[in-house]
Amino acid sequence: MSPSWSWAVGVCLFRLFCGLCSAGGRIVSYDFNVSYITASPLGKPQQVIAINNKFPGPTINLTTNNVAVINVHNKLDEGLLLHWSGVQQRRSSWQDGVLGTNCAIPPRWNWTYQFQVKDQIGSFFYFPSTNFQKAAGGYGGFIINNRPIIPIPFPTPDGDIVILIGDWYTRNHTDLRKSLNGGKALGIPDGVLINGKGPYQYNTTLVPQGIEHEIITVHPGKTYRVRVHNVGISTSLNFRIQNHSLLLIESEGSYTVQQNYTNFDIHVGQSYSFLVTMDQNASSDYYIVASARQVNESLWKNVTGVGILHYTNSKGKASGPLPAAPDELYDRFFSMNQARSIRWNLTASGARPNPQGSFRYGSINVTEVYVLKSTPSVMINGKKRTTLNGISYVNPSTPIRLADQYKLKGIYKLDFPTRPHSGPPKMATSVINGTYKGFMEIVLQNNNTKMQSYHMSGYAFFVVGMGEGEWTENSRSTYNKWDGIARSTVQVYPGAWTAILISLDNVGVWNLRTENLDSWYLGQETYIRIVNPETTNKTELPIPDNALLCGQLEYLQKNESQSISSATSVGGGRLSLVVLTLLMMFYALAENLDL
Ligand SMILES: *[C@@H]1O[C@H](CO)[C@@H](O)[C@H](O)[C@H]1NC(C)=O
Ligand SMILES: *[C@@H]1O[C@H](CO)[C@@H](O)[C@H](O)[C@H]1NC(C)=O
Ligand SMILES: *[C@@H]1O[C@H](CO)[C@@H](O)[C@H](O)[C@H]1NC(C)=O
Ligand SMILES: *[C@@H]1O[C@H](CO)[C@@H](O)[C@H](O)[C@H]1NC(C)=O
Ligand SMILES: *[C@@H]1O[C@H](CO)[C@@H](O)[C@H](O)[C@H]1NC(C)=O
Ligand SMILES: *[C@@H]1O[C@H](CO)[C@@H](O)[C@H](O)[C@H]1NC(C)=O
Ligand SMILES: *[C@@H]1O[C@H](CO)[C@@H](O)[C@H](O)[C@H]1NC(C)=O
Ligand SMILES: *[C@@H]1O[C@H](CO)[C@@H](O)[C@H](O)[C@H]1NC(C)=O
Ligand SMILES: *[C@@H]1O[C@H](CO)[C@@H](O)[C@H](O)[C@H]1NC(C)=O
Ligand SMILES: *[C@@H]1O[C@H](CO)[C@@H](O)[C@H](O)[C@H]1NC(C)=O
Ligand SMILES: *[C@@H]1O[C@H](CO)[C@@H](O)[C@H](O)[C@H]1NC(C)=O
Ligand SMILES: *[C@@H]1O[C@H](CO)[C@@H](O)[C@H](O)[C@H]1NC(C)=O
Repeated sequence: MSPSWSWAVGVCLFRLFCGLCSAGGRIVSYDFNVSYITASPLGKPQQVIAINNKFPGPTINLTTNNVAVINVHNKLDEGLLLHWSGVQQRRSSWQDGVLGTNCAIPPRWNWTYQFQVKDQIGSFFYFPSTNFQKAAGGYGGFIINNRPIIPIPFPTPDGDIVILIGDWYTRNHTDLRKSLNGGKALGIPDGVLINGKGPYQYNTTLVPQGIEHEIITVHPGKTYRVRVHNVGISTSLNFRIQNHSLLLIESEGSYTVQQNYTNFDIHVGQSYSFLVTMDQNASSDYYIVASARQVNESLWKNVTGVGILHYTNSKGKASGPLPAAPDELYDRFFSMNQARSIRWNLTASGARPNPQGSFRYGSINVTEVYVLKSTPSVMINGKKRTTLNGISYVNPSTPIRLADQYKLKGIYKLDFPTRPHSGPPKMATSVINGTYKGFMEIVLQNNNTKMQSYHMSGYAFFVVGMGEGEWTENSRSTYNKWDGIARSTVQVYPGAWTAILISLDNVGVWNLRTENLDSWYLGQETYIRIVNPETTNKTELPIPDNALLCGQLEYLQKNESQSISSATSVGGGRLSLVVLTLLMMFYALAENLDL
């Protein structure tokens, strides 16, 4: 599918009127048909979620400040939301595609996301955020390229390759959901997919015949930017390419200090870019491997994805054992050290011409501190649930952001505890009260025995520390106050902590969650609500005119059937030039005021 490119006439008109528009407000449109298909990635036919009949879905490819217009047609039999993981949705949590901000798109309806990728660059991905659908696919890459006037901190690569890795079950997502609802764990995954495909038959005992595997064809001597995303359910994966170095260059929108690695741990929800030079003699093809980490690898042998790197001058098939993963089941030293080695390149420019390091996060005073502790699952009212600080989050039927907009009371409480508490765990719609322009420290304490990762929408946070055992005030002395990476998804090792700092400058209601899909599904999430106390409409975009209404607001929802049948209907809020012009005016104004 090729996106249709068009210039925003409104923007141009506006520029004629006042010349203060920022560059790059080009509109890029996509049409997404989200439907079930039957696929057999591990050799067994199953129901998979495809976009435009493709699994994985197409890559969204934008440039800083472009406006994305993505018309999503829900051809599933249940509600759907697409979430643009890591894309910050500046001033517009309306487009974030999670249940706290959006009503799910009902089956047979379509809904158009419209957002500007303002001041961002990097490698991200999208996925369906409700109903456990991510376990069935529906994901794809999301690239934001630098504007041509801002140099990237490495030579222009010869090609761009997206690799989506993730654990996979041969059971369908409704079946997996049923297990969780019934209090059962999902068990060991059946395999790992690379770009939606099963493993190459590197071992006839472990991999049956007839499974299609991923083949990436490259030219000798060339250097490629390889963007790797862990889109899976709950397994941390070690990524490696036989005989090739991975030169780390970017992580979730930040350019890193460039370093070579022979293998790299990628936790659920994380994204990295590497430069890979095809500097081998092509005596054979090479293995691309993504294998389970931080688990007993001898029991998890099948949880290994294997693809093929094929040089155009290759002299034969890949064979022999896979390149080894780091060997350290009970010693996390290697993995945690690798995580600490990911640092921000302070002199490189990100989306703006000024260097990334000109934001000196280490000299800003923290205004609020949250210690969020996760424990193994607990029973609440006879149900198996997961918690943060003893609270198992319950999604209200009316999204929080909409409840605020329509001044509905009693939908949620701004009472999320700042520290773990010792009382009995409970189910609640408990939300963090963030202070606009505050500087928040969050300590993620993993009191479970499983590897976790956490994601926050709307922001890139600074990863300042990681350590074994319980975090204490003294742990702050170990913080990296200089070149900690800014990113949106970070791992927390079992029995250990990770500390992050966040500058609360993006107004809205933003999801803070574990990325491990089973724990997320069972309540391990909350939201941070950030309101500008001044009454101004410059720090947040107005509610989109196509906003879907549900829960207590359902009576206000107009029937979508009109908007599907007739493009002139106002009911579904079709994209009008007027709306886009307003959107662009808003951004131009906000940029000029440097909000
Ligand atoms: C989506 O499906 C409709 C038919 O329902 C078809 O007309 C349209 O071309 C499809 N769009 C894409 C991008 O595949
Ligand atoms: C994205 O688009 C740019 C042009 O804007 C192109 O150079 C690049 O190859 C594309 N990347 C992918 C992965 O499609
Ligand atoms: C639904 O899709 C049609 C075109 O396929 C479009 O005209 C309409 O605006 C869309 N509705 C919404 C709510 O996005
Ligand atoms: C999902 O899996 C369950 C259990 O195997 C099966 O009964 C059901 O038919 C499957 N649904 C689809 C749509 O494949
Ligand atoms: C294939 O895997 C099995 C199980 O791990 C192992 O025992 C066997 O040695 C492997 N075969 C080869 C040829 O590596
Ligand atoms: C691994 O996969 C092979 C081939 O499909 C299968 O025979 C074996 O039982 C699997 N092992 C586990 C532990 O699931
Ligand atoms: C990374 O390794 C390659 C060889 O594979 C080497 O040419 C390059 O200089 C290394 N870069 C760094 C920053 O270490
Ligand atoms: C940091 O970025 C600069 C570009 O400003 C680049 O020249 C340099 O190589 C990068 N440093 C490292 C260590 O990656
Ligand atoms: C941070 O706090 C210290 C002491 O409370 C104060 O002296 C300093 O000015 C503050 N820094 C900023 C940037 O507000
Ligand atoms: C939320 O925090 C603001 C300060 O940022 C405070 O004025 C307000 O009272 C708090 N709301 C609640 C319900 O605690
Ligand atoms: C969980 O917390 C308890 C109490 O602080 C502590 O004794 C235990 O070691 C912790 N376990 C893990 C895995 O962190
Ligand atoms: C913002 O508010 C001003 C007055 O408060 C109003 O004139 C303007 O139309 C509003 N803009 C938008 C985009 O809502």
